[in-house]
Amino acid sequence: MAEFSFDFPRNLLLTGSYGLGKSHLAAAMLKELLGKGHTGIFISVPKLLTKLKATYKKNSEFAEDDLLTVLEQADCLVLDDIGAEHGNDHSGSWSIAKVFEVVDSRLGKHTIYTTNLNGRDLQEKVGARNFSRMMQQCEAITIQGDDYRLRQFRS
Ligand SMILES: Nc1ncnc2c1ncn2[C@@H]1O[C@H](COP(=O)(O)OP(=O)(O)OP(=O)(O)O)[C@@H](O)[C@H]1O
Ligand SMILES: [Mg+2]
Repeated sequence: MAEFSFDFPRNLLLTGSYGLGKSHLAAAMLKELLGKGHTGIFISVPKLLTKLKATYKKNSEFAEDDLLTVLEQADCLVLDDIGAEHGNDHSGSWSIAKVFEVVDSRLGKHTIYTTNLNGRDLQEKVGARNFSRMMQQCEAITIQGDDYRLRQFRS
């Protein structure tokens, strides 16, 4: 895999079943970059959407725009578990619009995505325009293997 470089922004999509270490790997990569002095954020998409929604409350500590700006400016952003967000119809289109704001603002930067969904299901879930942006300069890696979380049950 190529070195992290601001001259060559690229995305990484880690796909695969649950418990295979996708989030672990993304966190390890981010940690390495933080150690080199870059800025980075790791957040799961379901959590991010909850946080954005919470900014709509009266007396919210944060403004939505401030959160979006922080995500936009990180040298590397990990959007963990994209596609795991709830919502169809009305709330689904809100989620897609919010993911669009983030993904669109990240063009020209490095973003790592992890997901349980295959390409087709992910495209359907996040919408074609989001998927198109996610796939720009993107290396997709499918992880296979056994669930780490269940390893104590195997002999
Ligand atoms: N290389 C590794 N060495 C040691 N532990 C690991 C490694 N990879 C993953 N794990 C551990 O295995 C568990 C599952 O990993 P992780 O949460 O990254 O999986 P995931 O693929 O993101 O799963 P999900 O799709 O459910 O989010 C975690 O507790 C993690 O710390
Ligand atoms: Mg995970």
